[in-house]
Amino acid sequence: MEHGKGLMQVSASAPGKLVLFGDHAVVHGYPGIVTAVDRRYQVRARHIDAAALQVRTSADRLHEVPFTALGKTQHPDIAYVAAAINQLNAREPLKHGLKLVTSGPTRSLGLGSSSAISVATLAAASRIHDVDLSLDELYSMARTAILDVQGLGSGLDVAAAVYGGTCFLERAGEIPEALSVERLPLIIGYSGSKAGTVNLVKRVAGLRSRHPDLVEAVLGAMGRISIRSRSCMEEGRWRDLGALTDINQGLLEALGVGTGQLAQLVYAARSARAWGAKLSGAGGGDCAFAWADDSIRADVVAGLEAAGGQVADIACNVPGVKVIDETWR
Ligand code: MEV
Repeated sequence: MEHGKGLMQVSASAPGKLVLFGDHAVVHGYPGIVTAVDRRYQVRARHIDAAALQVRTSADRLHEVPFTALGKTQHPDIAYVAAAINQLNAREPLKHGLKLVTSGPTRSLGLGSSSAISVATLAAASRIHDVDLSLDELYSMARTAILDVQGLGSGLDVAAAVYGGTCFLERAGEIPEALSVERLPLIIGYSGSKAGTVNLVKRVAGLRSRHPDLVEAVLGAMGRISIRSRSCMEEGRWRDLGALTDINQGLLEALGVGTGQLAQLVYAARSARAWGAKLSGAGGGDCAFAWADDSIRADVVAGLEAAGGQVADIACNVPGVKVIDETWR
């Protein structure tokens, strides 16, 4: 990497995610499926003369963290960035200070901003420090960074940010597999409220410890849905996939992570003849999605909107992390 004549800047971006199947079940060791969505988060990196990390966030605030304090930074604006740089520093001690500028969609909609920012941070910072990371190493380091901040999580969101496309995760901690799907005929509706993933994951874990037999059965059924959905998607059996999606939604309701608003979106989509619909991610708000092809798309969109949903025109199955070398201006 060249320094001196014009400081080199590296810019990386990573996509957000939509969890299709196995939400919550993946946290407990069952399979899940996620697709990368075209809401990308960017991180630009360059060297500075200080043994510190400087981060300018999209809210235009500048934070500075000495390298010695990287692992202790819990400021919500930069916790994921600092945890990611801490991982890089642990892998290969950083010889230069680092300035990062983060940007991305102003509203996350629950579509994976933390994982996308963590992955883009690691990708940009490792490149500018000449640390060669394979995608699998990037995945494992970003997953650890997220665990450092949240204390829990399956890594399913990180899979979408790193590898892109649509990924099948057999078991948390393993490397996900890419699914060969060309298109995903789905529509995403935002419920209008943001959910707190960590609390919801803890709530499900609490239910599991109080009723292990019942909750394990529900999570196991979700895992089997992920396995069957995988072949439906690869073979284009969308109606079968829709039926599995509806069963998955019922199981998420059984875990108590649904909301009235999400249920209204799901029922509105089904009334408009969507093949199936469910909430996506931790629940408690954020998004639901419905399977529908072009012949019924307009009706499903109208149904979701009439039910108070904000339909987001977002492409799925998009590429994962990208890195670009530039000159700092
Ligand atoms: C959140 O996007 C998905 C959950 O399964 C949590 C996780 O997998 O870490 C609820």
